[in-house]
Order: sequence, then structure tokens, then C-alpha cells
Amino acid sequence: MNSSYYFSKIYVLIFALCIFFIFINFPKNENPPAQSSFPESTSGNKIISALEKFQDCYNSKVFTFSNNSKDIWSNIEIIAHICDGFGGNLDLRPLRNRDETKWLAFPKKTNLDRNFTMVTLGIANDITAEIKLRDILPQTDFFGADPTNMSQIYTQLGQHFQFGVSGKTGLKNTRIYKNPKMALEDDVKNVNFVEFIDEYVQRKLVHFLWIDIEGGEFEIFEMLYRNGDIDTNHIDICQINFEIHQKTLEEITNEAERFQNFIRKIVTDGKYAIVKAFNVRKQNFVRIFLVNIENAECRRLFID
Ligand SMILES: *[C@@H]1O[C@H](CO)[C@@H](O)[C@H](O)[C@H]1NC(C)=O
Ligand SMILES: *[C@@H]1O[C@H](CO)[C@@H](O)[C@H](O)[C@H]1NC(C)=O
Ligand SMILES: *[C@@H]1O[C@H](CO)[C@@H](O)[C@H](O)[C@H]1NC(C)=O
Repeated sequence: MNSSYYFSKIYVLIFALCIFFIFINFPKNENPPAQSSFPESTSGNKIISALEKFQDCYNSKVFTFSNNSKDIWSNIEIIAHICDGFGGNLDLRPLRNRDETKWLAFPKKTNLDRNFTMVTLGIANDITAEIKLRDILPQTDFFGADPTNMSQIYTQLGQHFQFGVSGKTGLKNTRIYKNPKMALEDDVKNVNFVEFIDEYVQRKLVHFLWIDIEGGEFEIFEMLYRNGDIDTNHIDICQINFEIHQKTLEEITNEAERFQNFIRKIVTDGKYAIVKAFNVRKQNFVRIFLVNIENAECRRLFID
């Protein structure tokens, strides 16, 4: 711990305080909703104006305030809290795992009899939150993948696949847990995310996706972008709990910068809203909760 370490902490703290004070004075958006390609719906205008507020907040306040990616990484929790325009339209429910919380936007009452599809990437020996999801939405089909054999715990929920899911199919350096306390890197079977959804899950609409894949997530980033592999393969995902790590795989560097670029692109795309974010364990990883505000079926089920 040298003085530059403390300096950077102080800098981040000042940044967080500035953001906080800017936003408590942030005027409400009083402009009428702009043109949008969104399908009409009862809450259409509400969503468009929430999207405008969300984009404007990131563009005019966050991104112009600092180009130091560490600031975005370290402050994403407060930024997401202040810039959120969607929480009010959603029935948000926390689902607690042993050491974390997944978020669920609960379906609107008229959609409770639906069948839902849930995909877990990285089971990590803990399905407490999945069990809570099954208890409140029993008609959910579960699909879980992990490079470690988790079939003993996961098959009580649904189908289990023993491989990593990331950007490429084939043997790939992956962080795996031989036991809960011992992680190591090894070349193990991986399946490309889109291929996994098409060939193993075999659904075009995934309602709930939870990603905790220990560094493999950086290859998922661009798949989620507008016109990325998920779009071009006509797959839709309604809700994503996404964990992004620093210093997990040795080959991955510049995590904060990649994360900042991801956040910029997600905000610009306007397809997913960043509804919640958390800075976890001394900033070593962040968690974000994204909700698809564009897909008509996702909106009908969870927002309208
Ligand atoms: C950050 O970069 C963008 C794009 O290059 C630029 O428009 C903006 O002014 C920069 N913000 C700061 C605070 O330097
Ligand atoms: C849900 O799945 C069950 C079992 O596969 C099926 O019988 C039922 O018709 C489905 N319900 C809806 C609303 O699609
Ligand atoms: C995975 O674990 C299950 C249950 O513990 C066992 O039956 C199965 O053979 C294992 N699979 C592999 C590939 O080792």
C-alpha cells in the first residue's frame, strides 16, 4: 500500500461524491418523449422517457465527467442507482444466494401461468437463489452449465451440462474450482454461448440468464451488443444477472476499461436498461442487473 494507492482511493471517493452532488440536483427530464422505434404499448411512453433519462444521465453526466475507466468500475453502484429510470416500472425481487443477491423482475400478474426459461452459466456449487426462483415461479425450466460437475446439485432443478460457456467452442483456458476453496486455470471444454442456447437449451427466448463465469464474461460482452451474435441468431434474453471480474484469468487485462466500453455500448444501444449494479469485495468484481426494455415479449411479461 503506497501513497499512490491512497491517492487513487481519495480520487475515486471524490469522484463518487461529485457524482452524488451533481445528481441530487439533476433536473427531472421535462422534454416530451422523442421518436422511437419501440412498439406501441400501454406503458410505451413511460419506457421511452425512462430510456431517455437513463441515456442522458450516463451520456451527459457520467461519461463526460471522467474518462478514467477505474471511476466507472468503482462507482457503478451509485451511478446505476442514480441513473436508473426503470426500477419504478418493475416488480423487483431479491433472490439471495449464500454470498450474493440475484435480482428478479417478477412477471406481471396476468403472466404468472407462463412457462419460463432460466439459464445459469457458472453454478459455483450454490443454487440457493435458483431454488428461490423455482419456489416462486415453479413452471420454470432450468438449464445450468459449469466446467465442474455440478449435476448432483443442479439436476434437482433441471438439465446440467458439464462444460464452460463463453465465446468459443473447444478447449479453452478456464478458471475452475476443484473444490470451493481451490480455484485453478485449466484447458477445459467450452461451448460458444449462442451455440449453447441454440443446441442445448433449444429456446429462442431466455427469460432469466445468470452469468458468473470467472473471466469468460468478456467474450460475452460483444454478443450482447445490438446486432451482435445474440441478435443475429434471433435469440432474446429478458433479464440478465451478470458478474464481471477483475484479476481472475491471467490472460485478461484492462478489465475496467473493457467494462467501461461495455457500459457505454449498452447505454447507447438502449436495448437493455442497467437496473442495478453492485461493487463487491473490495472492488474485485461488479454485478449488474440488465433488463431488456425493447423485446415486445419481455416487455409484455415484465414491464407493461
Ligand atoms: C471523454 O472522452 C470523450 C470522447 O473522447 C470526450 O468527448 C469527453 O469530453 C471526455 N471527457 C473528459 C472529462 O475528458
Ligand atoms: C407449460 O409447459 C407444460 C409442460 O411442458 C405444458 O403442458 C403447458 O401447456 C405449458 N404452458 C403454457 C402456457 O405454454
Ligand atoms: C457427475 O456427477 C454425477 C453425480 O455425482 C455422476 O453420476 C456423474 O457420473 C458425474 N459425471 C462425470 C462426467 O463425472
